[in-house]
Amino acid sequence: MKSRSWWIWASNGSASTCSSPKNSGDPEPEKKSAERRSAAILTPMPNVIVRPPWHLPDSAVTPESVYHRRRNFLRAMGFIGGGLAVGLPALAQSTNLAKATAFSAGKRNPDFNPTVRLSDEEVATHYNNFYEFSTTKTRVRDLASRFRTDPWTLEVNGLCENPLKLGLNDLLQGFPHEERVYRFRCVEAWSMVVPWSGFPLAQLIAKAKPKAEAKFVAFTTVLRPEEMPGVARLPDYPWPYTEGLRMDEALHPLTMVATGLYGKPLPKQNGAPVRLVVPWKYGYKSIKSIVRIEFTAKQPSTLWETLNAQEYPFESNVDPQVPHPRWSQASERVVDTGERIPTQYLNGYADLVAKLYPKRKV
Ligand code: MTE
Repeated sequence: MKSRSWWIWASNGSASTCSSPKNSGDPEPEKKSAERRSAAILTPMPNVIVRPPWHLPDSAVTPESVYHRRRNFLRAMGFIGGGLAVGLPALAQSTNLAKATAFSAGKRNPDFNPTVRLSDEEVATHYNNFYEFSTTKTRVRDLASRFRTDPWTLEVNGLCENPLKLGLNDLLQGFPHEERVYRFRCVEAWSMVVPWSGFPLAQLIAKAKPKAEAKFVAFTTVLRPEEMPGVARLPDYPWPYTEGLRMDEALHPLTMVATGLYGKPLPKQNGAPVRLVVPWKYGYKSIKSIVRIEFTAKQPSTLWETLNAQEYPFESNVDPQVPHPRWSQASERVVDTGERIPTQYLNGYADLVAKLYPKRKV
């Protein structure tokens, strides 16, 4: 297996999902089953062909029994035969096809190219958290079909020398795109491995020229209740959806602005036309359908932290040793196979980002 890095990664499978803070108890039934602890051994071994820490173990390559379980999962969700059949017109609706010509997925960056199986595209694009549409993951795609993602304007402003207003073409063509395969870990304890297309957020920040006083970056999702049926269903939520990062986190090369998924323009349900991807933090930090990026001196408030700071704090780094108040984060459920695997500190990206958090002992 071709690979280049400093660690040997060995593990056995084991794991568990962002639920409404109004819900009590586990967000998903499988978390009720006992967590099987398993070991993730990270051993520094010079001169040995090894994999970078974001690689999944060989055991994550789908064995036949798991393949059948995945087929059952897809069937149960209506993706295979009968039920909610996915026809071409529906797919066309859910994808930002209008800009397909301007979009270029870019070449896959070999530094972020694990040699393991990607998560099933059907699952990754039909099992979504996008509360503006629905809290039912499997309904988001259909409910988002009428969401207008073109034209689009992303404003970049606040404490910066060069405020920007970027249209879709500016985003798609003004920044060289590349593809990166990242692990993605939801706070609800499910995970996937998906190929994002986009560019480092640092490139966009550099164009805006933040001032020295800018210590944080705040992100805002578009708010269009007329197109987003979930908003009226959650009237107590502090809409619009907002998120934030420290400036050093925002500038980190891993932090990505994504416009594509699986080599295609981002599907609406996955945050078209432009979203954030912060792979070492819980998925809710990866805000979708962004219309504003603002540089601030003070830590911005975020939707989830405003709703429940104890369960969804600002930092929200993936950490198996810090349980969610209502469930363990020691392991995670691979979303399309149902396998449980141990959760890794910073979602497997510790070698790259742990230095941002010197107080946490690894
Ligand atoms: N962004 C917005 N605007 N609204 C949301 O509800 N959900 C978050 C995040 N970004 C969310 C959002 C959560 S909880 C997760 S896990 C991821 O999006 C899910 O991304 P996916 O549907 O592409 O897998």
